[in-house]
Amino acid sequence: MLPVIETSLCAGACAPFSFLHASDTHLTRADRRDNPMKNELARRRTPVFPASEEGYAGLMAMPGDGLIVHTGDLIDFVSEANLDAAMALSASHDLFFAVGNHEFSRYVGEAFEDGRYREESFDQVSACFRNPLRFAVRERNGVMLVGMDNGYYLLDNRQFSALKRVVSLGMPILLFLHTPLYEEKLADMVFAEGNPCSYLMGAPEKLCFTYPPDRRIQQTADGVTRAAYEYILSEPLIKAVFAGHLHFDAETMLTPSLPQFVTGKATFRRVTVE
Ligand SMILES: [Fe+2]
Repeated sequence: MLPVIETSLCAGACAPFSFLHASDTHLTRADRRDNPMKNELARRRTPVFPASEEGYAGLMAMPGDGLIVHTGDLIDFVSEANLDAAMALSASHDLFFAVGNHEFSRYVGEAFEDGRYREESFDQVSACFRNPLRFAVRERNGVMLVGMDNGYYLLDNRQFSALKRVVSLGMPILLFLHTPLYEEKLADMVFAEGNPCSYLMGAPEKLCFTYPPDRRIQQTADGVTRAAYEYILSEPLIKAVFAGHLHFDAETMLTPSLPQFVTGKATFRRVTVE
């Protein structure tokens, strides 16, 4: 079992509830049903994620009725064996899933990953999960749980409108994203690890200009993403943001009243909401 971080949160629930937050399990399974290139990819990627099988086993060992929120990269790439594992977890557990960039990755880095790239495996991946992948919402004890796909550092108009519709209900919201939202301290942590970019959504354009060109193109927010980012930070009904993607644990404040919890690839977070 991976180490568990305890987090409690006051969101205004009508009765307390808890969930397990996990992220970036990065399963690297492949078998005979996949081609030799995919099997070679699995061999190459497995040592990069030594905690992945333990993480997956930990999730599978959770009671079936306990809520699990996974913020993406459950699988490292699309393969028959990885999709089987994703399906087995969603079939046996109460899983609320906010998809990551790797869910749609076919060979990890073989192409620029954008909306068109995602479309090629979208239906196949969607079939493994019980909630919609681009935007999902459910209610728990008077709190709205919202999951949005921002794995490519972007949100679109449909997602932004759907979020505003949930806000209009007037209930407290917990937001689940794969890619964390830009915040200076969190960006500093990412740079301190030797990265040339922040890997965060909504980073200031000025900062993105310091990235290598491919990362600048990948991570610069478009108009909708920028507006959605500003909206999230200014909406008092959004009580917390949970994300992954960075592969380390972090808790920082997006604003003085909005915490962001990042859960790493080798930990779980037990969240108690009041
Ligand atoms: Fe990841």
